[in-house]
Amino acid sequence: MRADENLEARIEAAVKNPRNLGEMENADVVGTVGSPDCGDMLRMWIKFKEEDGRKIIDRASFQSFGCQTAIAVASVATELLAGKTIDEARTMSGEELAAPLGALPPVRIHCAQLVEGALRDALSGDKPMMAQQEAKATSPTLLDQFSPKPEGKLKIIMAQIKTDET
Ligand code: FES
Repeated sequence: MRADENLEARIEAAVKNPRNLGEMENADVVGTVGSPDCGDMLRMWIKFKEEDGRKIIDRASFQSFGCQTAIAVASVATELLAGKTIDEARTMSGEELAAPLGALPPVRIHCAQLVEGALRDALSGDKPMMAQQEAKATSPTLLDQFSPKPEGKLKIIMAQIKTDET
């Protein structure tokens, strides 16, 4: 099997059976990013735990309105992230996060960078934890953001029909 066939097979397998897909109710942080290249979006939730006096990632989950590559990378990345410290996770590149799938062709690097961006956003130090938690509590899921909102109030007009039977 050629390397690109291998990559396609791994992506297909990850998309068919994505790991850690879906919103995490009790996450500590959440990050969202949209790709300027293709308009795809990805959101990642992370839960931390303490182990041997260190704060490490307990688990990560994701939601994606993105291409199959982004879904596959997010799936393998969320598995890779478990057990990493914040500093370790923060320095991981898109290529490192996608490594279990194999090397991505240049046209798909931005798909892995979408996952990297969501991870960085979730771990960004500039937002205090409480603000992130509030954002998490009030921010809708990606699904909510894409579902159509009702436009204005529904106006019901009562009409009286007159007949000429007098
Ligand atoms: Fe948009 Fe892959 S084409 S993330």
